Amino acid sequence: MQAGMETTEGMRQLIAGNWKMNGRRADAAALVASLREGAGALGVELVVCPPATLVAGVAAALEGSAVGVGGQDCHTAASGAYTGDVSAPMLHDAGARWVIVGHSERRLAYGESNVLVRDKADAAARAGLVPIVCVGETEQQRLTGAAETVVAAQVDGSLPPGFAGVVAYEPIWAIGTGRSAGDADIVEMHRCIRNQLVSTLGAAGEAVRILYGGSVKPEGAAAILRLEGVGGALVGGASLSATDFLAIARAAAPA
Ligand code: PGA
Repeated sequence: MQAGMETTEGMRQLIAGNWKMNGRRADAAALVASLREGAGALGVELVVCPPATLVAGVAAALEGSAVGVGGQDCHTAASGAYTGDVSAPMLHDAGARWVIVGHSERRLAYGESNVLVRDKADAAARAGLVPIVCVGETEQQRLTGAAETVVAAQVDGSLPPGFAGVVAYEPIWAIGTGRSAGDADIVEMHRCIRNQLVSTLGAAGEAVRILYGGSVKPEGAAAILRLEGVGGALVGGASLSATDFLAIARAAAPA
């Protein structure tokens, strides 16, 4: 490792909440008020990713707090004739500093390819957002022993040159099912992702934080978050409850 090169060792954990297509202004106001109060000095990096309609309001409500705001997707272009889409500079203008790209729900429902996800991550970085790039295998791919190959190819194909964002490993069969991956599989997949990051990005790949996502709940969070190589969590369902999300954040807090 070159002198001065950062690694993820000793880095604070990142807990990001993906609200998906949930929340109206009143729900968000209540959730965010509790987060603002509870996030205080946990020593953990917290981010919430509300739906696009709520990004500006949530960012305003969280200004000056310990909680950052992200979008759930962005277009590759900065502006133009793309009905229904939101661009990375628009998210930044609304107060977001992060954005999830390549979530499996988008890869599956909209056929988003690695190339498209890479271009979105690139657009995000150019707009000053930290991209959180999601990867993960289907249950079938895991059962046939293809998980590592599939995920390594996603990492290699979904990251633009000079990538300095975050990667979230989310096995698709663990998302929203209440069935998170086993400890040994999480460690193994994080190791595989780290190897691919270094092979794709060189030494810079050592500094990329890798999150685990898929049915992270307060009960199991502490065990997952102390596994080797896990730099935090991407939380779906449990991020809609301030109590649960803060409990997960506390599980990530340094002792
Ligand atoms: P889940 O979702 O925590 O509800 O499983 C995770 C995600 O989709 O990011």
